[in-house]
Amino acid sequence: MRTFVTRRLPVDPRGMLEGEVDVWESDAPPSAEVLRERARGADALVSLLSDRIDAMLLDACPSLRIVANYAVGYDNVDVAAATERGVAITNTPDVLTDATADLTMTLLLAVARRLREAEALARTGDFGHWSPTALLGLELRGATLGIVGHGRIGAAVAERARAFGMNIVAVSRSAGDFDAMLATADVVSIHCPLTEETRGLFDARAFAQMRPGAILVNTARGPIVDEAALVDALDGSLGGAGLDVYQDEPRVHPALLERDDVVLTPHIGSATERARRRMAEIALSNVAAVLRGERPLTPVNG
Ligand code: 8YV
Repeated sequence: MRTFVTRRLPVDPRGMLEGEVDVWESDAPPSAEVLRERARGADALVSLLSDRIDAMLLDACPSLRIVANYAVGYDNVDVAAATERGVAITNTPDVLTDATADLTMTLLLAVARRLREAEALARTGDFGHWSPTALLGLELRGATLGIVGHGRIGAAVAERARAFGMNIVAVSRSAGDFDAMLATADVVSIHCPLTEETRGLFDARAFAQMRPGAILVNTARGPIVDEAALVDALDGSLGGAGLDVYQDEPRVHPALLERDDVVLTPHIGSATERARRRMAEIALSNVAAVLRGERPLTPVNG
């Protein structure tokens, strides 16, 4: 029995898995060719969002029984192709909900209170005279938060935002509700998966409907937002953006890098000690279960 793990994890897989465990001991992802080479002949694969698990890879690895994706999102996996080939796909739901909701609030607050500009000014070592009109931001109490997506992370963000006194409007991507939300929200936060339906959901048309001064937060998947349209909207009347994910990771649109009205983090939604450890435990338990001939804990297919 052999398992290939495509990155160093916060839990040693050798302690949880029987048989041979091959770990890609680098923080940089293996190339598609190296992934195919190392996964060939493996019974199980632990993958990250940057590993493309498609029909070509699956065909090169006919002994694979499970691909345990180390993420709640699995848009990097061709689930239909895996199902056709009898390969189990699993993800790591629940354990990263709080971490991701916390980061969403971090970005929301940072943009609303202009943290980037304020921090830079404080770091000059002398911020001049205190001014009643400097660095004024959005107060959360009474403001409306539009949440796109009815899942666990959206609900956890709503819970936090309610504690700040925000009014919540949660919608799916369906036209009517979505458009009405865009027209009323002071802050819009994205919490839906990336699918063919949600790719480019935030395009020029959507931005045109948002309120002047509104803030966009995205801790879901980058390609849900058309970054060129976002940059145009920020040049127009959009108030700011808090982004943890990008259309073409790890690349960040160069125009975003120069802006003071955006706060950028490098895809760290689940990056707490606890969440990342528990993600590893779930992914490895899924592998162990399938290799024992049992049902995985958190299946995506079957
Ligand atoms: C992970 C994520 O950090 O779970 C997800 O969907 O985007 C993040 O939690 C990342 O996917 C690691 O593979």
